[in-house]
Amino acid sequence: QAELPQGYKFRALRRSDYDTGFLDCLRVLTTVGDISKAQFEAQYDTMSRPGSGYYILVVEDTNTSPPRVVGTGAVIVERKFIHGLGSVGHIEDIAVAKDQQGKKLGLRIIQALDYIAANTGCYKTILDCSEANEGFYVKCGFRRAGLEMAHYH
Ligand code: ACO
Repeated sequence: QAELPQGYKFRALRRSDYDTGFLDCLRVLTTVGDISKAQFEAQYDTMSRPGSGYYILVVEDTNTSPPRVVGTGAVIVERKFIHGLGSVGHIEDIAVAKDQQGKKLGLRIIQALDYIAANTGCYKTILDCSEANEGFYVKCGFRRAGLEMAHYH
């Protein structure tokens, strides 16, 4: 928290974040689609059930009125039967609003998510990214490992 710019705060995603800037951040990343408030809340309720393993963080800029969500990221804690019932953290959906990039918000989001993964017992944290973002993740302490495969439906 101390490492974020003045007035910027980390918090967990809330059910009330439908129109606080969270979805606009994600639109920097990819297509969000046309989702209603009710659909947003239903998805939030599913993801926030106890034991779901979803941790969704936002960075809020409280210098503005109302405060605005300017960055987000998620870690999903996957439980396994291998490695002595180990868990793996999957970092997903990292996005910083266009006008807020370059202020180390992305770096702080990755550090916070990696801390959550380590503190929920994950033996590693992994993620998929484009070649264009490799340098960012290297600066966050990650290194290239493996190859992503996909089958779209
Ligand atoms: N390539 C190389 N270096 C980079 C890149 C990049 N694409 N982006 C940032 N950096 C560097 C910065 O220059 C900085 O270096 P420094 O410490 O030497 O000054 C360091 O990485 C930290 O940068 P931040 O300021 O924390 O980056 P920012 O807050 O702008 O966030 C992010 C980076 C998340 C990639 C942002 O640009 C963004 O939202 N992009 C669009 C969405 C996106 O591509 N998200 C990632 C998808 S992958 C996934 O979600 C797992």
